[in-house]
This record gives sequence, structure tokens and C-alpha cells, in this order.
Amino acid sequence: MSQLLNQVAVVTGAGRGIGQSIALKLAAAGADLVCVDLKPEANQETADQVAALGRKAWMYGANVSDAAQVDAVAEKILADVGKVDILVNNAGITRDTLLMRMTEADWDLVLDINLKGTFLFTKAFTRAFLKQRSGRIINIASVIGLMGNAGQCNYGASKAGVIGFTKCVARELASRSITANAIAPGFIQTAMTDKLPEEARKALQTQIPLQSLGLPDDVAEAVLFFASPGARYITGQVLAVDGGLAM
Ligand SMILES: NC(=O)c1ccc[n+]([C@@H]2O[C@H](COP(=O)([O-])OP(=O)(O)OC[C@H]3O[C@@H](n4cnc5c(N)ncnc54)[C@H](O)[C@@H]3O)[C@@H](O)[C@H]2O)c1
Repeated sequence: MSQLLNQVAVVTGAGRGIGQSIALKLAAAGADLVCVDLKPEANQETADQVAALGRKAWMYGANVSDAAQVDAVAEKILADVGKVDILVNNAGITRDTLLMRMTEADWDLVLDINLKGTFLFTKAFTRAFLKQRSGRIINIASVIGLMGNAGQCNYGASKAGVIGFTKCVARELASRSITANAIAPGFIQTAMTDKLPEEARKALQTQIPLQSLGLPDDVAEAVLFFASPGARYITGQVLAVDGGLAM
């Protein structure tokens, strides 16, 4: 498959989990990959697998919540690579606890990485997208931003924020043929959900119409769709990849 041939995709949080699957899916479709994670070397495994697929891979380190680091890395990416066609804002964290126990630090950290990080990275590439009159922005939100969940006030607020941000960006950039869409994964098997106790996992599965947790690859398929030529007329949308959980 080569529908993304000659395209460059930036994926944040590309070192593992959903971000790694997204990077490999886009590379398998022909894209060259800019892998960003907290440290450049955190991307090594992903970059090796991208290279094994015959695509180019670059590795960068940046904390997505730090404006100075984001601006510096975006400038370096554009200088080293020359252009960016697809931006996937995937880096994210959880700091789950009940509202009564949630500290200001728990709130700030999750909002800073999940929401501000998405804003900073999107802003950093917007000038380039505007100039080239094209661009695909794909933000990884969560069903928790649509339906809520006890113990995840900070996370749910950050992901609802990502959805609102995506729609505003979609409206603002549409006249230059730049699209912005969000994906709302449900419960996907990664290090993030491995932390769940076995009982909580079993209880969750009973609420999912398709009766199992999703795979990182299920999310990556949706990203590939939004990045592909076939999605050129779709913007401002939120696609749940959740086994029917949030319908
Ligand atoms: N796993 C799920 O069930 C699930 C469900 C819904 C949404 N999501 C979202 O999908 C995305 C990826 O989740 P995952 O499960 O693969 O998580 P993960 O913890 O397995 O991977 C996250 C990656 O992001 C990187 N990262 C974290 N903070 C960063 C920062 N400040 N700057 C740069 N990189 C940073 C980590 O180093 C890691 O490589 C997140 O946005 C998450 O909220 C996950």
C-alpha cells in the first residue's frame, strides 16, 4: 500500500503503545516518520521498525507541554526534514484519582501534557501547513472526554478540551485545505491500561458491546483513514474507536 508515499508524518509519543502503532501503520502506507517522545532514544524501537518497512525515520526528544522545547524541536524538524504533511498529537498521560483526592499538581500535569501539548504542537506546525496549503492534524482524544469516568476528572477534562480544540482548529484552517479531526479511543491494551486491576478490567469488558479491549492497531487504522487521500473532505469530526462503549 502506498497511499501516503512522499508524505511526512510527525507522531508524538511514538516510542510505545498507540503512538508506536500509529507510526508503523503510516509507514506501512508509505509515509516517512518523524518520531517524537520525551527523549530521542525512546523512539529507537519504533524508528528501527519504520526503517525495516523501507521508510525514513527521524527521532527527536521533547516534552510536549514545554513551549520552548516544542518550538525548538518543530524548527529543527522542518529544517532537517523539509516539510510535514501529517501531525498526530498522541502523547498523553493519566493521573487517576477521585476528585476529593486530586491535587492541583495532578490536574495541571494532565492538562499540560494532554491539552496544552496538543495546542503547542499544532501551533508549531500551523505556519508550515498554511504555507503549503495542506495538512492533516489528527488528535488522540478519548471516550472519557465524551462520556466521563469516575476518578478521571483531569483526564476527561483534558480530552474534552482536545475535542473542542480540534473543532476550532478545523474551522480556522479549513479554507487552506487543512483538516483537523479527533479520535476517541475506548479501552485499548497498552501500558496505560495494564495498570488496571484484573477485576476492573473484567467489569469494563462487560460494558463494551464488542466485549473486548481494543488493540493499538485499531486506533492506528482510524488515524490512517484521516491521513489518507480518501478523507480529504472530512474535518472537525470525532471518531470513537471503542467497541461501541460510547455510542
Ligand atoms: N490506552 C488506552 O486505553 C487509551 C484510551 C484512550 C485514549 N488514549 C490516548 O492515547 C494516547 C497514547 O496512549 P498509550 O496508551 O499508548 O500510552 P503510553 O503510556 O503507552 O504511551 C504514551 C507515550 O507518550 C510519551 N509521553 C508521555 N508524556 C510525554 C510528554 N510530556 N512529551 C512527549 N512524550 C510524552 C510516553 O513516553 C510514551 O511513549 C494518549 O493520548 C492516551 O490518552 C489511550
